[in-house]
Amino acid sequence: MEIKVIVDDITKIKTGAIIVNFFEGMERLDGDIATTDKALDGAISQLISQGEIKGKLNEITIIHSLGKLPAARVAIAGLGKQQELSQDKVRGVVAETCRLLRQKGVNSIATIAQGAGIAGISLESATQAVTEGALLGVYSFRRHITKEAEYGEIKQLTIVDADEANLPILEQGYHKGKVLAEATNLARDMVNEPANYMTPNQMAETAKRLAETYGLELSVFEREQMQELGMGALLGVTRGSRQPPKFIVLHYRGGDSTEIDVALVGKGITFDSGGISIKPSAKMDEMKGDMAGGAAVMAAISAIAQLKPKINVMAIIPATENLPSENALKPGDILTAMSGKTIEIISTDAEGRLILADALDYVRKFGAKFMIDVATLTGACVIALGKVCTGAFGNNQELIDRIIAAGTEAGELIWQMPMYDQYKEQNKSDVADIKNVGGREGGAITAAQFLSEFAGDTPWVHLDIAGTSMTDKEKNYLVKGATGVPVRTLVNLVLSLAK
Ligand code: BES
Ligand code: MN
Ligand code: ZN
Repeated sequence: MEIKVIVDDITKIKTGAIIVNFFEGMERLDGDIATTDKALDGAISQLISQGEIKGKLNEITIIHSLGKLPAARVAIAGLGKQQELSQDKVRGVVAETCRLLRQKGVNSIATIAQGAGIAGISLESATQAVTEGALLGVYSFRRHITKEAEYGEIKQLTIVDADEANLPILEQGYHKGKVLAEATNLARDMVNEPANYMTPNQMAETAKRLAETYGLELSVFEREQMQELGMGALLGVTRGSRQPPKFIVLHYRGGDSTEIDVALVGKGITFDSGGISIKPSAKMDEMKGDMAGGAAVMAAISAIAQLKPKINVMAIIPATENLPSENALKPGDILTAMSGKTIEIISTDAEGRLILADALDYVRKFGAKFMIDVATLTGACVIALGKVCTGAFGNNQELIDRIIAAGTEAGELIWQMPMYDQYKEQNKSDVADIKNVGGREGGAITAAQFLSEFAGDTPWVHLDIAGTSMTDKEKNYLVKGATGVPVRTLVNLVLSLAK
């Protein structure tokens, strides 16, 4: 989809459909919807008085203009109650409208910056929200479907403002929205890609492509370098797989100093069978998405490279498969992590914390002011929070608060979980320094406590996205499959830290 911003009157545009808005409880029409209504000889006001158009959030009504307007159709999109509008609701309604129009065969749409000036939404954020909603909402993953799609693509979206002076603001909002949405869709593509395509090597190849395109520095450590560095925890997980593991490091340097400001670490298990502690076969296919954290940090740093904040960011993705074989890690085995800590393996299915242990320790030694890891780490987090929000765990309240705020701005909900020291007891081992499973009770928290042992004193936050990285419902700007969470949160956070 191509998006452009132009100065014009929306009722004068020749296109497949124009979108105008109606709010719940609105007494009288004004602005663009009033002009449109007049051109349609009162068709909109009639539907309102008959109660067909109520203005409820995500209510969409399509009217054919039958030559009364240059546009073939008018879509009246309900935005709900004025005072309750948010940037995220704008994203959602734009997505729903674009999908509905696409289904009707429309391939070009014009809209205003919906929601601008309402409930504290600036023109720039409204334009950003419209852009994100459109690009995220019409996303589909059809790479492996040979049959032609039932409907065509929306080729063009035009965002219109009648005031010439607003154009630079619109362009800024559009640019930010486009970068954020495309990065999110990149992460979705990587997660939706099956494990026979998205191997650790393919993750490294993707990193290479991004590094070349956006001018990032890239190093990829092979097994030999992992051995030299003593990454025993990561190497333990890789043992069952024939696919060569990759430890991917990307750098964005926008700051003046040489110090790393933010390190983003993402779990890159390209397939999690559980290993010798093998998972039940039902829904095991979903474990192709166990690299969603790695995809998110890779996509986030590529967006950061395009938005160019004055800050230094590093992304680290330990990538490997977790498979059983005669050479695989076994329950009862003891590994020595790069930090020197020994780990008793209770379950080979608790592999995420093992590969992250060495990645976090790598960052700790490298030095970074802030460290955030993102991982589809525990089923327990899905039990605790459902699929509504990501769990946040950390050792620094200020950083946690900033991440939650960055998530709210993105419409990616995050809930903080407790990190009381008492939970650490569950990870105590009789035969090693620590064990990799602390029992079923509070499983998401004991996993985070395990990671905290390797984060050291660096201000650190762990985001458990096991429940939020995939969705089985098409709703608002999410479609079935990968969500791309928390790419936009991470970018917002880095932009806010750069200020
Ligand atoms: N990748 C899984 C966690 C997961 C579960 C992600 C469901 C997405 C959806 C992780 O590696 C895992 O297997 N965790 C175990 C830990 C247990 C063995 C302590 C789990 O949650 O069952
Ligand atoms: Mn696992
Ligand atoms: Zn896993």
